[in-house]
Formats: sequence, C-alpha cells, structure tokens
Amino acid sequence: MLAFPDIRLRRLRKTKALRALVRETRLTVSDLIYPIFVTHGRHLREPVEPMPGIYHLSLDNLLEEVNEVARLGIPGILLFGIPSYKDSSGSESYDDHGIIQEAIRVIKHTIPDLIVITDVCMCQYTDHGHCGMLNGDVIDNDATLEIYSRIAISHAEAGADIIAPSGMMDGQVKVIRKSLDDQNYPHVPIMAYSAKHASSFYGPFRIAADSTPRRGDRLSYQIDYANSRMALREIQTDIEEGADIVMIKPALPYLDVIARARDRFDHPIAAYHVSGEYSLIKAAAANSWINEREAALESLTGIRRAGADIIITYYAKDVASWLAEKY
Ligand code: PBG
Repeated sequence: MLAFPDIRLRRLRKTKALRALVRETRLTVSDLIYPIFVTHGRHLREPVEPMPGIYHLSLDNLLEEVNEVARLGIPGILLFGIPSYKDSSGSESYDDHGIIQEAIRVIKHTIPDLIVITDVCMCQYTDHGHCGMLNGDVIDNDATLEIYSRIAISHAEAGADIIAPSGMMDGQVKVIRKSLDDQNYPHVPIMAYSAKHASSFYGPFRIAADSTPRRGDRLSYQIDYANSRMALREIQTDIEEGADIVMIKPALPYLDVIARARDRFDHPIAAYHVSGEYSLIKAAAANSWINEREAALESLTGIRRAGADIIITYYAKDVASWLAEKY
C-alpha cells in the first residue's frame, strides 16, 4: 500500500485549473426548480418575512417574475397558491378559477417552454390546515384521494406540465396517475413527494402559506425524521404506483436517504431544499456570521453530490446569477 510520502493528495489541489479538472460534482442551472407563491389581487408583491427575497405575487407581478426565471435559464418553477378562502374540503384547490389554475394559464400563455410544476395538496386551502379530509381528528386517507384527483385534473386542464402530490396519503400516486390517464392526460408526468419527513424545517413555508395545522401535527402522514428505511419504502411504493420522478424532502438533513435512493433506484431523484434550510443561511448571513453565497453553493453542491438530479430551491435565482458570473 502506497502512503505518504509517495502519495500526496494535495498535488491535485495546487492550482485552480487542476482543482476544476478533478471536481466530481457540478451544480448547473439546468438542475434547478424555483418555488413561487401566487396570490389573488393586483399589484401585490408582499415579502415573506422569514424568507428574505421571497414574495407573494399577484398574477400581474407573476409574469415579471417568471420572465426573469426564464431569462436566467432556470428550467422550471413549482407553484404554491394562497387562496382567497379556506373551508373543510379545501375547495379552492380544485376550482377552475382557483389561484393556481389562473396562474398556470397566465404562465403557459406567456412562456410556454417554462416547466410549470404544481403542488397537489390541501393544507393551504383547508380551514383546519391539514393536508387531507378530516373525520373528527382523524385524516380520512381514501376520501382525501378523491380530492387530490380533482386537484390534479384541474391543474392538468389548466396546462400544468408536471403534477407533484405532496400530502403523503397512501395511494396518492396511483389514484392521480389513473385519473390523469382516464381524463386524457397520459403524458403529464408525476413528481412524487415520496420521502417527505415531518420536519421543523417547513416552519417558514407554513408562515408563508398560512398552512400550519390549527390542531395536532402531521406525524400521522409525514415520515418520522429518524427513519430512512421507511423513506425507501415510500419511494419504492411511489415508483410501483407510477411516479416518474421521486422526491426527498427536506434535503440537507436527509443526504443519507438521497444517497441510498440513488444506489437503489434509477428514477430521477429530486431533493427539496426547503424553506427552513433557506432561512437558516439567510439569517446567519444577515448577521454576517456566514458567507451566504459560499454556504448556499456548498449546500446545493452537497445535495447533488449525495445523488440528487434535481434541486428545488429558493436559491435558484441567486445560484443562476452566481453561476453566470463565474463562467
Ligand atoms: C404542503 C407542502 C409543505 C411544503 C411543500 N408543500 C409544507 C408542509 O408539509 O407543511 C414545505 C416546503 C418548504 O418548507 O419550503 N404539504
């Protein structure tokens, strides 16, 4: 076995060119998806307090935003809606004139090539804040699936390119796939939030989307953060149910899940670098405690190194401009 002084690993770190030559993982703008929050009203651009740089946009301002996203070379966006009312079955979520359905039409009309991914869930739309139909204090899994199908179909009808169910109900991918096929949308892919862990890192998003459960928590549907084998079973079942892309979420605390999924499955893997992961860097950078750009690039490169093909991140626009500067 060769060892020091015959082996000197620093030889390959001597110059910038050598380091670039042996760099194993690259972050590129074509891997990124940018989440956007849309809201009813006009001329609105309301800052989301815990997520500096992120806004609630009304449809007129949305156009400006998606134009910028496209100009930066970011291939797609993930849409979240702030509804005008909430009720027990989250009915705006499948309303043809709901905020998401309107937003999809506006975007596809203007920038048809931008990939529009839509989150299929009920939590922003229900008065109780849960991701499914409640029966007393219990989530009714199978009744929820009917609503998810209606949401998915309404998104596909409006022109969504990819449907992304995030509610963690059993059977959601199967039921949505079947509805899409039956309603003549067999070509619309499903990006399944497969391994979605019950995470405190969603905190800033829940403030942004006003989607905190009024009572209880999401532990009966999202995965315990201590479980990686369970996460792999969720991915496995989603693949069997017809998912085209599988997602692991959040990203940084779950790099082991990403790496194991990469070894085991050949489907494209998306990782969601969630709101709390974004806010942590923002807050530390605001105090000059961390170099924002380096911390963001290191985090996202680490997620790619673990094996993610696609990264959903609130940093997508910043990264796109940083990468454009560098090369
Ligand atoms: C809805 C949903 C959540 C996120 C995406 N879709 C929140 C939740 O489960 O409470 C979180 C995204 C983020 O934190 O950036 N089910």
